[in-house]
Amino acid sequence: MTSAPKAKEPIDVAVLFPQLDDIADPKLREGVAATWQDLWEMSPWTRIEEVPTSTEIPYPTLPHNRCVLEMAIAVADAFERHHGVKVNRDYLIAAAILQDASKVVEFERGPDGKTVPTALGREYPHAFWAAHMALRHGLPDEIVHVLLTHTPQAAKFPATIEGKILYYVDQIDVIGIYKDRWRKELFITK
Ligand SMILES: [Fe+2]
Repeated sequence: MTSAPKAKEPIDVAVLFPQLDDIADPKLREGVAATWQDLWEMSPWTRIEEVPTSTEIPYPTLPHNRCVLEMAIAVADAFERHHGVKVNRDYLIAAAILQDASKVVEFERGPDGKTVPTALGREYPHAFWAAHMALRHGLPDEIVHVLLTHTPQAAKFPATIEGKILYYVDQIDVIGIYKDRWRKELFITK
């Protein structure tokens, strides 16, 4: 008799991202953890540490996600201290924890060990599934907007301060883990 396949170990979102506890709204905290957990259950990966940043960037996504989260909070702190710019911490932390959560369903390891897109990764834009699950768990539009606009591939640029902070620190981190993907072009207009 064969034994039933063992269910995958759940992840502990508060251990992976201790800043989860800094979210003041308990319902939002639960929703962020549940969104990550649902995506993890759908994921073909069994060890979160092995999930890469992208099909192009082999560096693991977990330290990338953690560094982006830390930098986003640091920028919000500096903005507030120096310029009195108010940033919604709950929205910023929730969005930073979730921005790349859908990577666990967007790609997988191909037969030759290379990272390849999954069917979902081919059919949906990056961050769509994190946004979809976040809505299912009742997360507010302000957070879903940040998730959907945090990538340069998105059709829209983030409209809020939380979204803009996340967008730029994410790009800064790509320089640290991979290389500079931006180039300067000069346009001469009359
Ligand atoms: Fe991302």
